[in-house]
Amino acid sequence: MKIRGIPYRTIWLNEDGWRVNVIDQTKLPHEFSTITLSSDNDVAHAIRTMIVRGAPLIGAAAAFGICLAMREDATNSSLVTTCKLLSRTRPTAVNLHRTLNDMKTALMNVSERERVATAYTLANDICLTDIKTNQAIGEHGFEVLRKLYTNKPPDTPLNILTHCNAGWLATVDWGTATAPMYSAHNAGLPIHVWVDETRPRNQGSALTAFELAQHGVPHTVIVDNAGGHLMQNGEIDLCLVGTDRTTASGDVANKIGTYLKALAAKDNNIPFYVALPSSTIDWSITDDINEIPIEERSKEEVMYVSGRDEEGRLAKIQVTPDGSNTANYAFDVTPARLITGLITERGMTEPSAEGLATLFPEHVTQDHRTI
Ligand code: MRU
Repeated sequence: MKIRGIPYRTIWLNEDGWRVNVIDQTKLPHEFSTITLSSDNDVAHAIRTMIVRGAPLIGAAAAFGICLAMREDATNSSLVTTCKLLSRTRPTAVNLHRTLNDMKTALMNVSERERVATAYTLANDICLTDIKTNQAIGEHGFEVLRKLYTNKPPDTPLNILTHCNAGWLATVDWGTATAPMYSAHNAGLPIHVWVDETRPRNQGSALTAFELAQHGVPHTVIVDNAGGHLMQNGEIDLCLVGTDRTTASGDVANKIGTYLKALAAKDNNIPFYVALPSSTIDWSITDDINEIPIEERSKEEVMYVSGRDEEGRLAKIQVTPDGSNTANYAFDVTPARLITGLITERGMTEPSAEGLATLFPEHVTQDHRTI
Protein backbone atom coordinates (compact mmCIF):
# COMPACT_ATOMS: atom_id res chain seq x y z
CA MET A 1 0.00 0.00 0.00
CA LYS A 2 1.06 3.60 -0.33
CA ILE A 3 2.55 6.15 2.03
CA ARG A 4 2.50 9.67 0.62
CA GLY A 5 1.77 8.08 -2.75
CA ILE A 6 4.81 5.77 -2.69
CA PRO A 7 4.10 2.00 -2.63
CA TYR A 8 5.63 0.15 0.33
CA ARG A 9 5.64 -3.25 1.90
CA THR A 10 6.26 -3.42 5.64
CA ILE A 11 9.39 -5.56 5.20
CA TRP A 12 11.76 -5.86 2.25
CA LEU A 13 15.33 -6.78 1.42
CA ASN A 14 17.88 -3.99 1.47
CA GLU A 15 19.74 -3.06 -1.76
CA ASP A 16 22.70 -5.13 -0.54
CA GLY A 17 20.46 -8.19 -0.99
CA TRP A 18 20.86 -9.56 2.56
CA ARG A 19 19.93 -7.03 5.25
CA VAL A 20 16.26 -6.42 5.99
CA ASN A 21 14.40 -3.10 5.95
CA VAL A 22 11.29 -2.46 8.02
CA ILE A 23 9.06 0.51 8.76
CA ASP A 24 9.55 1.66 12.37
CA GLN A 25 5.96 1.41 13.60
CA THR A 26 6.78 2.88 17.02
CA LYS A 27 7.26 6.26 15.32
CA LEU A 28 4.01 6.32 13.37
CA PRO A 29 1.87 8.29 12.75
CA HIS A 30 4.10 11.29 13.52
CA GLU A 31 7.33 10.18 11.84
CA PHE A 32 7.90 7.86 8.92
CA SER A 33 11.25 6.14 9.18
CA THR A 34 12.73 2.80 8.23
CA ILE A 35 15.26 0.65 10.06
CA THR A 36 17.76 -1.81 8.60
CA LEU A 37 18.12 -5.08 10.53
CA SER A 38 21.46 -6.91 10.26
CA SER A 39 21.25 -9.77 12.77
CA ASP A 40 18.84 -12.10 14.53
CA ASN A 41 19.31 -9.94 17.64
CA ASP A 42 18.16 -6.88 15.66
CA VAL A 43 15.07 -8.79 14.55
CA ALA A 44 14.32 -10.05 18.07
CA HIS A 45 14.61 -6.48 19.37
CA ALA A 46 12.34 -5.16 16.59
CA ILE A 47 9.64 -7.72 17.40
CA ARG A 48 9.92 -7.31 21.18
CA THR A 49 9.72 -3.52 21.07
CA MET A 50 7.00 -3.57 18.39
CA ILE A 51 8.99 -1.78 15.72
CA VAL A 52 7.30 -4.57 13.76
CA ARG A 53 4.09 -6.08 15.08
CA GLY A 54 0.88 -7.77 13.94
CA ALA A 55 0.73 -11.55 13.71
CA PRO A 56 1.63 -12.06 10.01
CA LEU A 57 4.41 -9.46 10.02
CA ILE A 58 5.94 -10.91 13.17
CA GLY A 59 6.10 -14.27 11.36
CA ALA A 60 7.72 -12.74 8.27
CA ALA A 61 10.25 -10.82 10.36
CA ALA A 62 11.18 -13.96 12.29
CA ALA A 63 11.80 -15.77 9.00
CA PHE A 64 14.31 -13.09 8.01
CA GLY A 65 15.83 -13.28 11.50
CA ILE A 66 16.75 -16.87 10.72
CA CYS A 67 18.23 -15.81 7.35
CA LEU A 68 20.46 -13.27 9.07
CA ALA A 69 21.56 -15.80 11.68
CA MET A 70 22.37 -18.41 9.01
CA ARG A 71 24.64 -15.91 7.22
CA GLU A 72 26.72 -15.60 10.39
CA ASP A 73 26.70 -19.25 11.37
CA ALA A 74 24.75 -21.97 9.58
CA THR A 75 25.32 -24.75 12.12
CA ASN A 76 22.52 -26.70 13.83
CA SER A 77 23.31 -25.14 17.18
CA SER A 78 23.10 -21.61 15.74
CA LEU A 79 19.73 -22.47 14.16
CA VAL A 80 18.36 -23.82 17.44
CA THR A 81 19.66 -20.85 19.43
CA THR A 82 18.14 -18.33 17.01
CA CYS A 83 14.77 -20.07 17.05
CA LYS A 84 14.81 -19.96 20.87
CA LEU A 85 15.77 -16.27 20.86
CA LEU A 86 13.01 -15.32 18.44
CA SER A 87 10.34 -17.52 20.00
CA ARG A 88 10.74 -15.71 23.32
CA THR A 89 9.91 -12.31 21.81
CA ARG A 90 6.09 -12.50 21.75
CA PRO A 91 3.89 -15.41 22.85
CA THR A 92 0.35 -14.98 21.47
CA ALA A 93 0.66 -14.61 17.68
CA VAL A 94 0.96 -18.17 16.44
CA ASN A 95 2.58 -17.19 13.11
CA LEU A 96 5.87 -16.57 14.90
CA HIS A 97 6.02 -20.04 16.41
CA ARG A 98 4.78 -21.76 13.26
CA THR A 99 7.34 -19.96 11.08
CA LEU A 100 10.18 -20.87 13.42
CA ASN A 101 9.15 -24.54 13.52
CA ASP A 102 8.67 -24.75 9.76
CA MET A 103 11.95 -23.00 8.96
CA LYS A 104 13.87 -25.05 11.50
CA THR A 105 12.51 -28.31 10.05
CA ALA A 106 13.23 -27.25 6.47
CA LEU A 107 16.76 -26.03 7.22
CA MET A 108 17.69 -29.10 9.27
CA ASN A 109 16.93 -31.08 6.11
CA VAL A 110 19.50 -29.27 3.95
CA SER A 111 23.27 -29.09 4.28
CA GLU A 112 24.89 -26.16 6.10
CA ARG A 113 26.17 -24.89 2.74
CA GLU A 114 22.63 -24.56 1.37
CA ARG A 115 21.07 -23.02 4.46
CA VAL A 116 21.49 -19.31 3.71
CA ALA A 117 20.00 -19.52 0.23
CA THR A 118 17.21 -21.83 1.40
CA ALA A 119 16.35 -19.55 4.32
CA TYR A 120 16.06 -16.47 2.08
CA THR A 121 13.90 -18.42 -0.40
CA LEU A 122 11.59 -19.53 2.40
CA ALA A 123 11.39 -16.04 3.92
CA ASN A 124 10.58 -14.47 0.54
CA ASP A 125 7.92 -17.16 -0.05
CA ILE A 126 6.33 -16.37 3.33
CA CYS A 127 6.09 -12.70 2.30
CA LEU A 128 4.63 -13.43 -1.14
CA THR A 129 2.13 -15.92 0.29
CA ASP A 130 1.05 -13.37 2.88
CA ILE A 131 0.33 -10.78 0.19
CA LYS A 132 -1.63 -13.23 -1.99
CA THR A 133 -3.53 -14.56 1.02
CA ASN A 134 -4.57 -11.10 2.13
CA GLN A 135 -5.69 -10.15 -1.37
CA ALA A 136 -7.91 -13.24 -1.39
CA ILE A 137 -9.30 -12.31 2.05
CA GLY A 138 -10.00 -8.89 0.56
CA GLU A 139 -12.02 -10.38 -2.28
CA HIS A 140 -14.06 -12.71 -0.06
CA GLY A 141 -14.58 -10.00 2.53
CA PHE A 142 -15.67 -7.55 -0.13
CA GLU A 143 -18.57 -9.90 -0.97
CA VAL A 144 -19.63 -9.80 2.69
CA LEU A 145 -19.50 -5.99 2.71
CA ARG A 146 -21.33 -5.75 -0.61
CA LYS A 147 -24.22 -7.88 0.70
CA LEU A 148 -24.52 -5.84 3.89
CA TYR A 149 -24.43 -2.65 1.84
CA THR A 150 -27.56 -3.70 -0.07
CA ASN A 151 -29.54 -3.30 3.21
CA LYS A 152 -28.43 0.31 3.63
CA PRO A 153 -30.61 3.30 2.75
CA PRO A 154 -29.37 5.09 -0.39
CA ASP A 155 -26.45 7.52 0.01
CA THR A 156 -25.33 6.16 3.36
CA PRO A 157 -21.96 4.45 3.74
CA LEU A 158 -21.50 1.04 5.28
CA ASN A 159 -20.22 1.65 8.81
CA ILE A 160 -17.54 -0.78 9.97
CA LEU A 161 -16.00 -0.89 13.44
CA THR A 162 -12.47 -2.24 13.75
CA HIS A 163 -10.17 -2.77 16.72
CA CYS A 164 -6.38 -2.49 16.92
CA ASN A 165 -4.47 -2.63 13.65
CA ALA A 166 -5.11 -5.64 11.45
CA GLY A 167 -4.11 -3.47 8.54
CA TRP A 168 -1.34 -3.68 5.98
CA LEU A 169 1.11 -2.52 8.65
CA ALA A 170 0.36 -5.72 10.59
CA THR A 171 1.08 -7.90 7.55
CA VAL A 172 3.46 -7.71 4.61
CA ASP A 173 0.81 -5.87 2.59
CA TRP A 174 -2.98 -5.31 2.38
CA GLY A 175 -3.77 -6.36 5.96
CA THR A 176 -6.40 -8.89 6.97
CA ALA A 177 -9.34 -6.93 8.42
CA THR A 178 -8.48 -3.97 6.20
CA ALA A 179 -8.16 -5.99 2.97
CA PRO A 180 -11.97 -6.12 2.46
CA MET A 181 -12.13 -2.41 3.33
CA TYR A 182 -9.50 -1.52 0.72
CA SER A 183 -11.16 -3.78 -1.86
CA ALA A 184 -14.55 -2.17 -1.20
CA HIS A 185 -13.14 1.36 -1.24
CA ASN A 186 -11.20 0.68 -4.46
CA ALA A 187 -14.36 -0.70 -6.08
CA GLY A 188 -16.31 2.45 -5.17
CA LEU A 189 -18.46 0.93 -2.42
CA PRO A 190 -18.91 3.71 0.14
CA ILE A 191 -17.57 2.68 3.54
CA HIS A 192 -16.78 4.52 6.75
CA VAL A 193 -14.60 2.94 9.43
CA TRP A 194 -14.93 3.53 13.17
CA VAL A 195 -11.41 3.03 14.50
CA ASP A 196 -11.03 2.01 18.16
CA GLU A 197 -8.00 3.85 19.54
CA THR A 198 -6.88 0.57 21.24
CA ARG A 199 -5.18 1.52 24.47
CA PRO A 200 -2.55 1.11 25.75
CA ARG A 201 -0.40 1.22 22.59
CA ASN A 202 -3.03 2.90 20.42
CA GLN A 203 -2.51 0.78 17.32
CA GLY A 204 -5.94 1.96 16.17
CA SER A 205 -5.45 5.71 16.45
CA ALA A 206 -1.77 5.59 15.48
CA LEU A 207 -1.62 2.90 12.79
CA THR A 208 -5.08 2.01 11.44
CA ALA A 209 -6.08 5.67 11.20
CA PHE A 210 -2.73 6.44 9.54
CA GLU A 211 -3.05 3.80 6.86
CA LEU A 212 -6.74 4.47 6.16
CA ALA A 213 -5.93 8.17 5.82
CA GLN A 214 -3.04 7.43 3.45
CA HIS A 215 -5.41 5.39 1.28
CA GLY A 216 -8.24 7.96 1.47
CA VAL A 217 -10.71 5.69 3.31
CA PRO A 218 -13.21 7.75 5.38
CA HIS A 219 -12.79 6.93 9.08
CA THR A 220 -13.32 8.29 12.58
CA VAL A 221 -11.17 7.46 15.62
CA ILE A 222 -13.14 6.73 18.79
CA VAL A 223 -12.14 5.89 22.35
CA ASP A 224 -12.26 2.20 23.12
CA ASN A 225 -15.43 2.44 25.18
CA ALA A 226 -17.54 4.21 22.53
CA GLY A 227 -18.34 1.16 20.38
CA GLY A 228 -21.25 -0.11 22.50
CA HIS A 229 -22.97 3.27 22.45
CA LEU A 230 -22.57 3.55 18.67
CA MET A 231 -23.97 0.05 18.20
CA GLN A 232 -27.05 0.88 20.30
CA ASN A 233 -27.63 3.92 18.13
CA GLY A 234 -27.49 2.19 14.76
CA GLU A 235 -24.14 3.70 13.80
CA ILE A 236 -22.36 0.40 13.17
CA ASP A 237 -23.34 -2.12 10.48
CA LEU A 238 -20.66 -4.68 11.26
CA CYS A 239 -17.47 -5.26 13.23
CA LEU A 240 -14.43 -6.55 11.37
CA VAL A 241 -11.25 -7.44 13.23
CA GLY A 242 -8.11 -9.57 12.87
CA THR A 243 -6.70 -12.37 15.00
CA ASP A 244 -3.37 -13.44 16.42
CA ARG A 245 -4.36 -17.04 17.05
CA THR A 246 -7.54 -18.88 16.08
CA THR A 247 -8.38 -22.24 17.63
CA ALA A 248 -9.44 -25.19 15.47
CA SER A 249 -12.96 -24.52 16.84
CA GLY A 250 -13.04 -20.90 15.68
CA ASP A 251 -12.31 -19.01 18.92
CA VAL A 252 -10.22 -15.95 18.29
CA ALA A 253 -7.41 -14.35 20.33
CA ASN A 254 -7.01 -10.73 19.31
CA LYS A 255 -6.01 -7.42 20.86
CA ILE A 256 -7.39 -6.81 24.35
CA GLY A 257 -10.91 -5.38 24.13
CA THR A 258 -11.99 -7.38 21.09
CA TYR A 259 -14.13 -9.64 23.32
CA LEU A 260 -16.05 -6.67 24.74
CA LYS A 261 -16.83 -5.46 21.21
CA ALA A 262 -18.11 -8.93 20.31
CA LEU A 263 -20.35 -8.98 23.39
CA ALA A 264 -21.79 -5.58 22.53
CA ALA A 265 -22.28 -6.65 18.91
CA LYS A 266 -24.17 -9.79 20.02
CA ASP A 267 -26.43 -7.73 22.28
CA ASN A 268 -27.23 -5.40 19.39
CA ASN A 269 -27.59 -8.05 16.65
CA ILE A 270 -24.66 -6.62 14.75
CA PRO A 271 -22.58 -9.07 12.69
CA PHE A 272 -19.09 -9.64 14.02
CA TYR A 273 -16.56 -10.90 11.45
CA VAL A 274 -12.95 -11.93 11.85
CA ALA A 275 -10.58 -11.83 8.86
CA LEU A 276 -7.78 -14.34 9.06
CA PRO A 277 -5.09 -15.98 7.01
CA SER A 278 -5.04 -19.71 7.75
CA SER A 279 -1.51 -19.15 9.09
CA THR A 280 -3.14 -17.81 12.28
CA ILE A 281 -5.07 -21.03 12.96
CA ASP A 282 -3.58 -23.11 15.75
CA TRP A 283 -4.88 -26.56 14.82
CA SER A 284 -3.51 -28.02 18.05
CA ILE A 285 -5.99 -26.10 20.21
CA THR A 286 -9.44 -27.57 19.77
CA ASP A 287 -11.62 -26.52 22.68
CA ASP A 288 -9.69 -25.12 25.64
CA ILE A 289 -9.18 -21.40 25.04
CA ASN A 290 -6.98 -21.25 28.14
CA GLU A 291 -4.30 -23.03 26.11
CA ILE A 292 -3.74 -19.77 24.22
CA PRO A 293 -0.83 -17.92 25.86
CA ILE A 294 -1.91 -14.36 26.60
CA GLU A 295 0.93 -11.87 26.47
CA GLU A 296 1.38 -9.54 29.43
CA ARG A 297 3.40 -6.49 28.52
CA SER A 298 5.21 -3.80 30.46
CA LYS A 299 3.19 -1.88 33.03
CA GLU A 300 4.78 1.28 31.60
CA GLU A 301 2.51 1.02 28.55
CA VAL A 302 -0.49 1.59 30.84
CA MET A 303 1.21 4.25 32.97
CA TYR A 304 2.23 6.46 30.03
CA VAL A 305 0.82 7.66 26.72
CA SER A 306 3.04 8.81 23.90
CA GLY A 307 2.24 11.41 21.28
CA ARG A 308 3.17 14.77 19.81
CA ASP A 309 3.02 17.81 22.06
CA GLU A 310 1.76 21.25 21.04
CA GLU A 311 5.24 22.22 19.83
CA GLY A 312 5.29 19.15 17.57
CA ARG A 313 7.82 17.23 19.69
CA LEU A 314 7.32 13.56 20.49
CA ALA A 315 6.52 13.24 24.19
CA LYS A 316 5.74 10.56 26.74
CA ILE A 317 3.25 11.56 29.44
CA GLN A 318 2.43 9.79 32.70
CA VAL A 319 -1.34 9.27 33.16
CA THR A 320 -1.50 7.21 36.38
CA PRO A 321 -0.72 8.38 39.92
CA ASP A 322 2.69 7.56 41.38
CA GLY A 323 2.31 4.38 43.37
CA SER A 324 -0.75 2.92 41.58
CA ASN A 325 -0.27 -0.60 40.36
CA THR A 326 -1.09 -1.33 36.72
CA ALA A 327 -1.60 -4.51 34.69
CA ASN A 328 -1.21 -4.91 30.95
CA TYR A 329 -2.92 -7.89 29.34
CA ALA A 330 -2.35 -7.54 25.61
CA PHE A 331 -4.91 -10.01 24.19
CA ASP A 332 -8.26 -11.59 24.99
CA VAL A 333 -10.21 -14.46 23.49
CA THR A 334 -13.53 -14.02 21.73
CA PRO A 335 -15.41 -17.33 21.82
CA ALA A 336 -16.70 -18.68 18.51
CA ARG A 337 -20.33 -18.32 19.68
CA LEU A 338 -19.99 -14.52 19.47
CA ILE A 339 -18.55 -14.54 15.94
CA THR A 340 -20.73 -14.38 12.82
CA GLY A 341 -18.15 -15.56 10.31
CA LEU A 342 -14.46 -16.17 9.69
CA ILE A 343 -13.23 -14.65 6.43
CA THR A 344 -10.24 -16.64 5.18
CA GLU A 345 -8.26 -16.82 1.96
CA ARG A 346 -10.46 -19.77 0.95
CA GLY A 347 -13.72 -17.98 1.63
CA MET A 348 -16.06 -17.41 4.56
CA THR A 349 -17.05 -20.03 7.09
CA GLU A 350 -19.01 -20.26 10.29
CA PRO A 351 -16.71 -20.20 13.33
CA SER A 352 -16.77 -23.88 14.22
CA ALA A 353 -14.58 -26.96 14.03
CA GLU A 354 -16.75 -28.26 11.18
CA GLY A 355 -16.60 -24.99 9.26
CA LEU A 356 -12.82 -24.71 9.48
CA ALA A 357 -12.30 -28.41 8.74
CA THR A 358 -14.43 -28.12 5.60
CA LEU A 359 -12.37 -25.19 4.32
CA PHE A 360 -9.03 -26.72 5.32
CA PRO A 361 -9.48 -30.51 5.05
CA GLU A 362 -5.72 -31.06 4.86
CA HIS A 363 -5.58 -30.28 8.59
CA VAL A 364 -7.97 -33.06 9.57
CA THR A 365 -6.73 -36.62 10.04
CA GLN A 366 -8.79 -39.72 9.23
CA ASP A 367 -9.59 -40.16 12.92
CA HIS A 368 -10.92 -36.55 12.97
CA ARG A 369 -8.03 -34.98 14.84
CA THR A 370 -6.77 -31.59 13.63
CA ILE A 371 -3.10 -31.06 12.84
O1 MRU B 1 0.11 -6.29 19.69
P1 MRU B 1 -0.04 -6.20 18.20
O2 MRU B 1 -0.06 -4.80 17.69
O3 MRU B 1 0.97 -7.07 17.48
O4 MRU B 1 -1.48 -6.81 17.94
C1 MRU B 1 -1.99 -6.90 16.65
C2 MRU B 1 -3.37 -7.41 16.61
O5 MRU B 1 -3.99 -7.66 17.61
C3 MRU B 1 -3.96 -7.66 15.25
O6 MRU B 1 -5.34 -7.52 15.27
C4 MRU B 1 -3.61 -9.09 14.82
O7 MRU B 1 -2.23 -9.32 14.89
C5 MRU B 1 -4.09 -9.40 13.46
S1 MRU B 1 -3.01 -8.68 12.28
C6 MRU B 1 -3.47 -8.92 10.73
